[in-house]
Amino acid sequence: MKPIGPLMWEHRLIERMVSLLNRELKSIDTNHMADVDLISTGVDFFRTYADRTHHGKEEDILFRDLVKKPLSQEHTRIMNELIAEHIYARKTVGALVDAKNKYKDGDSASLKDIVKYLKELIGFYPVHIEKEDKHFFFPILDYFSRQEQDAMLQEFWDFDRKLIHEKYQKIVDGLENR
Ligand SMILES: [Fe+2]
Ligand SMILES: [Fe+2]
Repeated sequence: MKPIGPLMWEHRLIERMVSLLNRELKSIDTNHMADVDLISTGVDFFRTYADRTHHGKEEDILFRDLVKKPLSQEHTRIMNELIAEHIYARKTVGALVDAKNKYKDGDSASLKDIVKYLKELIGFYPVHIEKEDKHFFFPILDYFSRQEQDAMLQEFWDFDRKLIHEKYQKIVDGLENR
């Protein structure tokens, strides 16, 4: 398997979460209230899965190795765009968390911010994913030998393996320090 295989599977799950949140957006429009639990689950998904697990492999492994290669101007440009987009996604999820927390605490005016940031994320992810799937992942594979690709795939598995421990370690740390 090529190392972009797991990244592309992960894109498919991100798309499914995006469509669930799109459904939530429609429900907010109809009912004028938000499902705080669903949004909290979505936020955890974006932070733990889309950002730490998925963008983590892209940035900490794939892009890290890619910058050591003689990248074309076009590929350098796209990689820098992707990095900037990851930062944007992180920031938008943070803003969604703030809006969701305010709403949960009784500030009903925050509903419009929940809608705003949900719309931003729903608009953002499919475009970002398409850029990677259709314009980046396949051409950049050519910079890596078969052996390098195998090593990268192995490093992806190793990276994934430690994340479940990292997540729950953080949860226990957080509860202890409350
Ligand atoms: Fe990405
Ligand atoms: Fe991605």
